[in-house]
Amino acid sequence: MTPPPRRRSIPAVRYLLGEHRLPCFLAGFALAALFFHSFPLSTTTTTTTILQASDPGRVAVPDPITRRVLIEEMPGATGKVPQGLKRKGNRILVTGGAGFVGSHLVDRLIGRGDSVIVIDNFFTGRKENLMHHFGNHRFELIRHDVVEPILLEVDQIYHLACPASPVHYKFNPTNVAGTLNMLGLAKRVGARFLLTSTSEVYGDPLQHPQVETYWGNVNPIGVRSCYDEGKRVAETLTMDYHRGAGIEVRIARIFNTYGPRMCIDDGRVVSNFVAQALRKEPMTVYGDGKQTRSFQYVSDLVEGLVRLMESEHIGPFNLGNPGEFTMLQLAEVVQETIDPKARIEFKPNTEDDPHMRKPDITKAKEQLGWEPTVSLRKGLPMMVSDFRQRIFGEQKAFSA
Ligand SMILES: NC(=O)c1ccc[n+]([C@@H]2O[C@H](COP(=O)([O-])OP(=O)(O)OC[C@H]3O[C@@H](n4cnc5c(N)ncnc54)[C@H](O)[C@@H]3O)[C@@H](O)[C@H]2O)c1
Repeated sequence: MTPPPRRRSIPAVRYLLGEHRLPCFLAGFALAALFFHSFPLSTTTTTTTILQASDPGRVAVPDPITRRVLIEEMPGATGKVPQGLKRKGNRILVTGGAGFVGSHLVDRLIGRGDSVIVIDNFFTGRKENLMHHFGNHRFELIRHDVVEPILLEVDQIYHLACPASPVHYKFNPTNVAGTLNMLGLAKRVGARFLLTSTSEVYGDPLQHPQVETYWGNVNPIGVRSCYDEGKRVAETLTMDYHRGAGIEVRIARIFNTYGPRMCIDDGRVVSNFVAQALRKEPMTVYGDGKQTRSFQYVSDLVEGLVRLMESEHIGPFNLGNPGEFTMLQLAEVVQETIDPKARIEFKPNTEDDPHMRKPDITKAKEQLGWEPTVSLRKGLPMMVSDFRQRIFGEQKAFSA
């Protein structure tokens, strides 16, 4: 009878199970004891707080202790931050950074030396708005929908991601879930959070001009309410996270803003008029054209957002240009800038269109030292040259 085949063992296993087993275990035990003696498993308040913050089942602790503090208290830290973790500038997340306002904000932050991460689902934003930063080691772009959670290590969050024009928000309504996710992220990593709210929270205002203390006049079930009420809820959530979870928050109420990189056909009045006049189509005025709006150039808004983020004030702050124009006056400025013969066409007004809009910016002037500097007549030509290039450049590319 042939003997059963012997099992072949791997040399390393044979070694561990062999004559050197005991010294090997003893050496391992000694090393582990030395390690845990030098770096005990911390039970400090900071660590506990972080664990609580990341545990959704636990009640939020109203304590602004951040992950940065955890790093500062790490054993072996020399000075405030451990060697090797020191870095220049902030790490900043801009949600909706591929959009109109977001991309100008990113330019500004990169320009001053910060590291910027953009997350965007490209619903209305375009990669072209950010392509000049591709290849920059301080810039990252992630395709992501903010309604899904994400974990990123950042110091500040500018939350802009939200369909912002009527054609888009009526198609894809509120972004409350996105705001909730970003507030959760801010809480988890101890980041400062800035919400880009809107003058639409004032609805069809009964007070003129609108001051931040005015609570507004919004139709909660109208066609625009998914946007107006969505932003009102976003403000509520932002304040609740501040009061309940101790996160640092900022709220900006943005009034009509225009400039290069705006979506061309998104139904917002300035982009509508400019695109129509350039294409030699009549400019569409809804209603009698006497409703008023104020128009802020995008660089003024970016300045206001950055000042607010860096300030010690929560807000809300109105960020807008107090110059007030009727729709017909706006059409005249577009005629002056593009084509004096551009025609106007009247159509029935849209539902719940506010009759007047004009920010009172006293609070922003006093507390942020901010006020707009670019008038409509100065800003509009800069937008027109961008639109001209995009409309006719794209047409040329298609016909080539
Ligand atoms: N431009 C204005 O006049 C104005 C006025 C008031 C408030 N705001 C607010 O400012 C912010 C930026 O507006 P904008 O004018 O630049 O609009 P925009 O449409 O150009 O930018 C919004 C960006 O958010 C992205 N986005 C939308 N939903 C998203 C999602 N679920 N996940 C990830 N990305 C998403 C879009 O793709 C786009 O890049 C918005 O929150 C808007 O409500 C703008």
